[in-house]
Amino acid sequence: MPLFQKKTEAPRELPTHIAIIMDGNGRWAKKRGLPRTAGHKVGAEAFRTIANYAKSIGLRYLTVYAFSTENWKRSEDEVSAIMELLEKYLREAIRDMDKNRVRFCFFGDLSRLSPALQKEAAEAVERSAGYEGVQVNFCLNYGARDEILRAARAFAAKCAAGEAKPEDLTEAEFSGLLWSAGVPDPDLIIRPSGELRISNFLLWQSAYAEYYFTDTLWPDFGPKDLDAAIDAYNHRSRRFGGVK
Ligand code: IPE
Ligand code: IPE
Ligand code: MG
Repeated sequence: MPLFQKKTEAPRELPTHIAIIMDGNGRWAKKRGLPRTAGHKVGAEAFRTIANYAKSIGLRYLTVYAFSTENWKRSEDEVSAIMELLEKYLREAIRDMDKNRVRFCFFGDLSRLSPALQKEAAEAVERSAGYEGVQVNFCLNYGARDEILRAARAFAAKCAAGEAKPEDLTEAEFSGLLWSAGVPDPDLIIRPSGELRISNFLLWQSAYAEYYFTDTLWPDFGPKDLDAAIDAYNHRSRRFGGVK
């Protein structure tokens, strides 16, 4: 190779599936002397921006953690404010979705949500089913342990009904019993807000995910931050237990 040959930059590889723990709304608001709800509001806007950006760069799957099975522990006031916001933003997201061809999917037990919210969610899934843009998986009342338990129960029920034998269970079949059935495992999981934990998110699916942590609080998280995470991902060497 000639000594001064110009290095050509390798094209950036886009992960197929990015998952985000949308955390830090409360601290964002506190820093500004605002009620926590104000943080949730700006956080919902941040979601909208990121979903549209994901579509524009050609991402296939975006999974966002919006409300966990543990978040019910919060004050009734905060929970109902979050639910109201979700309803409003989901309705707006449905409008965006038609324009941007975004496909909506939900991970979590929606039966605990208000009938209005359940209706918005069902409508979003149905209306967008044939869209070819990014698929947004919205995790609502989602907990990974809950998801795994449900899958285990579903398989046990098949065995009890004589439709399957315990030894028939494969990783692929188990994956098919999760909320995420049919969605490839996340390549990159992003957690803003400076916390270095998983908080019951995608425990099964994240077996070989790359993690990216940033101190940025979710309401401040924008396209530049997503780009930084994708750049970091491009510097990782994924070996899946093998040798490169
Ligand atoms: C994430 O922000 C939103 C939800 C969990 C519903 P938080 O409300 O957890 O914000 P912090 O972590 O208190 O800053
Ligand atoms: C994780 O954030 C859940 C969501 C962002 C929806 P939390 O704020 O609930 O997590 P912990 O309590 O800090 O672990
Ligand atoms: Mg939090």
